[in-house]
Formats: sequence, C-alpha cells, structure tokens
Amino acid sequence: MPFRTSTQALIVYNFKSDYQRPDRSADDLFIRLGAENNGLAHSGLKLQPPLALAPMVGLSHSALRILILELGGVGLFFSEMLSVSRLPIENETVSPFLCRTHAESPLFYQVYVGSNQDILPAVERLHLLNAQGIDLNLGCPAPSLRKQGAGSFMAMENVQKTVAVLRAATHLPISAKIRLGKTLDERHLLEFCRMLEDEGIDLLTVHGRLQGEKFCRRPRWDWIAKVKQVVNVPVIANGGVFSVADAKKCLEQSGADGLMLGRGAVCRPWLFAEIAKDVYHFGEIPEINIPDIYFRFIDLLKARFFPERRLGRLKQFTHYYSSNYAFGHHLASGVQNSKTIEEAVEVALDFFNKTQESNHD
Ligand SMILES: Cc1cc2nc3c(=O)[nH]c(=O)nc-3n(C[C@H](O)[C@H](O)[C@H](O)COP(=O)(O)O)c2cc1C
Repeated sequence: MPFRTSTQALIVYNFKSDYQRPDRSADDLFIRLGAENNGLAHSGLKLQPPLALAPMVGLSHSALRILILELGGVGLFFSEMLSVSRLPIENETVSPFLCRTHAESPLFYQVYVGSNQDILPAVERLHLLNAQGIDLNLGCPAPSLRKQGAGSFMAMENVQKTVAVLRAATHLPISAKIRLGKTLDERHLLEFCRMLEDEGIDLLTVHGRLQGEKFCRRPRWDWIAKVKQVVNVPVIANGGVFSVADAKKCLEQSGADGLMLGRGAVCRPWLFAEIAKDVYHFGEIPEINIPDIYFRFIDLLKARFFPERRLGRLKQFTHYYSSNYAFGHHLASGVQNSKTIEEAVEVALDFFNKTQESNHD
C-alpha cells in the first residue's frame, strides 16, 4: 500500500502479523497487525486523514468522540489514560471510561503502567473490548503518576521491559506518547525513541514540551523533527495546535506524519474538519453553529452517561468551549456553579441569547 507524505490526505498503515520493520527508503510502509488477537485476521488501518484526538482525562470520551465524528475530519481516537490495574475490573456497561459505540473507531486505548504492575490482564481486556490499538502513556507529568512511577516517571529499563512484554502479548498496533524529556537532551531523546522502535512500537506521538513545562509554553515543534528524522515508524506531532495556521506550521516545522489535537479540539470540535479540508484536501467543512453544537454535546452526554456522570464532564468541556466567545468566562463560570445539568442548560441558553442580542445591537 502506498505511503504518502504528511501533505497528503491518507496514511495507510497495513498492520501485519508477520512483522517487518519499515524501511525508510521503501515506498511502502508496513507496520504491525491491527486485527483481533487471533493471529489470522490481517487488516489495514487507515488514518484518513492522519489527525488524532488526544488522550485527555475527563474529555476524550464517547460523547466528545461522537460529536467530533459528526463534524468530520478525524482519523484516529485515543481514550483518556486508563490504569492497567483498574482496566481489568472496570465494568464496561457502566464505566464512563469504556463506554463506546461501534462508530468510534479506530480507537487506541491509552494505558499507564506503574512500577511492578502487570500489564497482561489489561491487554487481555483490551482485546475483548475490540481495541484497534494500545497506547502507552510515557509523557504524563501528573503527581498521581509520579507516585506510581508511571507516565513520564517510568524508568527507562521499565519502559523497555513494558514495551517488550506488550509487544509479545498483542498483535494490535502499539503506540507510545512521549514528551521531549526532563531536559533538552537530544542524544537521550533520540536513544529513547530508537529504543521504543526497537522494542516494537508502531506509532509514536511526540508532545513537543519538556516534562515540567506547562501547556501555556510554546511547544518545540522543531524538536519533533529531530525524532522524525531518526525513527522509521510514523510520528504524530502534538501540542499547541488551535487553528489551521498552527497545523500547517507544526507540520512544516516537525515534518510529522500527522497531528494530534487536544485542547484545540475541545475548544473547536470542528477543527479536525477545517484542517482535513485545508491541509489534506479531505472532506468538507460543516456549517458551524456554536450554540447548536454545545446543545448537541449535552444531548450526547445524556445519551452516553448516567446522570451523575454528566455534569462534571459538561463543566470540563465548557471550560474550553467557552473560549469561542470574548465573554465566554461568563458561560464557563455559570456552568461551573450549576448544581444540575438542567441548571447548566438554562445558564447556557441565557448566555447564548444575550450574546446573540448584543451581536444584533
Ligand atoms: C484536561 C487534560 C487531560 C489530559 N489527559 C491526558 C491523558 O490522559 N494522557 C495523556 O497522554 N495526555 C493527556 N493530556 C495531554 C494531552 O494529550 C496533550 O498532550 C496536551 O494537551 C497538548 O496538546 P494540545 O496543546 O493540543 O492540548 C491531557 C491534557 C489536558 C488538557
């Protein structure tokens, strides 16, 4: 299958059980099998276009995925990070982390692994959940992960061992999501990425910030380019893409094979469609009505989650989505202070009506 460059609309990953390391000079890009764990079904996974929704706790769930699917332009989903120790005991019929419709595909479940935790029961569970891939969280700097020695706090030897165990345990594509490291150390970063590739990962996402850097800091897309130059697996660039112009600049500076959108996709769930059309000449840009999209999201929360799980997720979404308005903080704080989803709906209706009126004045 043809491998096309990042300026074209389609990356075809032909996942194969008989693993072949991709040759940088070859026209074809083959990476591992993306089929059920029966070792028989060979399937190709198309990232069409190569644009992914980032793993985000409390945000990358079924309702947001469906909303983004309806608006178009997304090629791959990542779940929010899931603990390998909790995953096997999570009840998929009630769990807000696991609920999913068939259409939300391809979906890579992201896992984090603490020191001395066994990843195998989680892998078995992901096979049963019909995951299209497994993503290893190697970049998260959250204090809760520090305590467990997980995410960006995983020791190098533990990362190597974990990827090797994972590779041996699944025929699903394996991806890893990293930051640039603790400090800007090119040799260390590239060695780390080469190690991941040697252990058998199929896809690498690089968030262009250091472990301790806040999201407000400008990401170093040029450092993603350094990684892209030394690994053969596809590289997805992440960090700081909030517009089509950002997307173009990030792709230009990183040379990445695709993009992962986080907060930009929550602020503007139609951003995938805009980038897909402009950069990859893929699909169409839908008509955007900001209040309608907000209420559609609420409907999806109601459809996908039990009542007690809805309001918190709406508050988190609204925190970002309100940035579509100059005075959006009124919407965000009104929803934040709401005690029920019905109250939040009233607040939002009032805000959108007032905003519309003032626009007509
Ligand atoms: C609320 C929130 C939750 C996040 N949760 C995760 C997570 O579960 N796993 C992960 O690898 N990164 C997580 N991230 C980081 C994002 O995946 C992404 O790397 C980061 O937001 C930078 O991309 P952006 O500038 O497009 O938002 C989270 C970020 C935010 C804002």
